[in-house]
Amino acid sequence: MREVLRIGRAAMRPIAVLAPLAVILASACIPPDDGYNKVVVRDRGHIPAVAMPDPPPVTAGAAGPAGAGPVVVADLPAGVTQEMVNEGQQLYGTVCVACHGGAGVGGPVGPALNDSQWIHITGQYEEIVSIINSGVAQPRQYPAAMPPRGGGNYTDEQVRSISAYVYALSRQGGT
Ligand code: HEC
Repeated sequence: MREVLRIGRAAMRPIAVLAPLAVILASACIPPDDGYNKVVVRDRGHIPAVAMPDPPPVTAGAAGPAGAGPVVVADLPAGVTQEMVNEGQQLYGTVCVACHGGAGVGGPVGPALNDSQWIHITGQYEEIVSIINSGVAQPRQYPAAMPPRGGGNYTDEQVRSISAYVYALSRQGGT
């Protein structure tokens, strides 16, 4: 019995030494109370949402920016009238605007139509009529095709009006 007890005490000795050491080590590892809980992000107060103005209302059929008047061009081709340009402006706003932007400014899926730069045509009135009718099955610079008549259900007469508007848009600068 004695023998066993002695061995037992001897075995306890290292524990007696190590135990306080372990406590010291542990306390060194456990961060003090003001550690993680005081991370800056957690303490950040409520950030009020910034008041953003509502986007301007878009009227169906409006082709240009709000308040934009009719596009007037002095030298319309024979057979093309200002009335056609005005009607075309309304029709343009139903479909074409989605890809070519308000007043033909262009966008991520359709080229600008408000300047003298053309990708497929030289900008003559009849060319504009023809490309709107056919659409562009194989676009050269933009990711997706333009369907015939832009996918709109327009009569021949309406396409001629839309073309008048596009023609006028492209010559606004007097070019
Ligand atoms: C789905 C998008 C889309 C719609 C809708 C659309 N277009 Fe296009 N349009 C295009 C793309 C794409 C091209 C060719 C761009 C290219 O070749 O990279 C194009 C080309 C054109 C061109 C020739 C441009 C040039 O520089 O040669 C004209 C003119 C044109 N569109 C007018 C219209 C009109 C008018 C409408 C409405 C009736 C219309 N488009 C509707 C996407 C569209």
